[in-house]
Amino acid sequence: MPKSPDLATNAAIPCAGVIGFPIAHSKSPRIHGYWLSEHGIKGQYTALEVTPEHLPAFVQRVRADENWCGFNATIPHKQNIIPLLDGLTPEAKAIGAVNTVFKKDGRMWGHNTDAYGFITNLKQQSGPRFNGIKTALVIGAGGAARAAVYALKQHGISVCLTNRSTDKAEALAQEFGATTMAFDALDLKGFDLVINTTSLGMQGQPALHLALSALPVHALVYDIVYTPLQTPLLVEAQKRGLFTVTGLGMLLHQAVEGFSLWFRVTPAVTPALEQTVLK
Ligand code: ATR
Repeated sequence: MPKSPDLATNAAIPCAGVIGFPIAHSKSPRIHGYWLSEHGIKGQYTALEVTPEHLPAFVQRVRADENWCGFNATIPHKQNIIPLLDGLTPEAKAIGAVNTVFKKDGRMWGHNTDAYGFITNLKQQSGPRFNGIKTALVIGAGGAARAAVYALKQHGISVCLTNRSTDKAEALAQEFGATTMAFDALDLKGFDLVINTTSLGMQGQPALHLALSALPVHALVYDIVYTPLQTPLLVEAQKRGLFTVTGLGMLLHQAVEGFSLWFRVTPAVTPALEQTVLK
């Protein structure tokens, strides 16, 4: 049975980590471990399995332990953690989800760096093409979709949402000022960018098949799934000559701000880090 993890540390070193349930698959310890060693910081970043039932106790223990600087929260805690914190940053409030917790002035703050990770990765891979993106179709209506829609709207991009469960797409569209399209009658005509935020295409999951031939030739296809890095959707898009954006950079870029809040150094996303995480 998973239980609340032991937070005890015998040395006064700054600690952070990632909590989730399940958590074994997380690549975050590899990212932060790489940066800690790169910068010669005597710090610790660990993956901790925390069940929803143990979440309040976990937050209390971090609050009381001055070695702990904060942590990342992933599925299923990104929304449930909100009432347990003392405040939210404007991004976390607008997105309605927290992936990064930090301490400031004795208070525990919830922040969201997924939108930053999403858009920074897109800008970096698409280069000058980014400026040509005026319309985007976002597939999915979960936490990742919320961050993506928020970031796209912040950049003045019109968003259309589609999701297997229509009601979730409609609620999200209303909240963020987007339009919707039926998931079983998708028409990709005219979109500059298509983004998959669902788990379709992930190792062990069915592929996401889209009628890509309707897209304009300049369109970009972005998959936030990064296991595998080249998802069936991206492979299909490349075959059609479309520009593709892989998802790993979103994970790497979202980690930057957490590291800098906890360990007081702003780390860089480099090809060497990417290779370490892909291994
Ligand atoms: P995350 O926080 O990573 O976005 P999530 O909140 O669980 O995860 O959202 C998962 C998204 O993938 C949802 O949009 C989900 O659709 P539903 O809202 O209909 O559940 C979508 N998804 C998962 N499996 C799917 C499948 N087999 N077909 C279509 N959509 C799927």
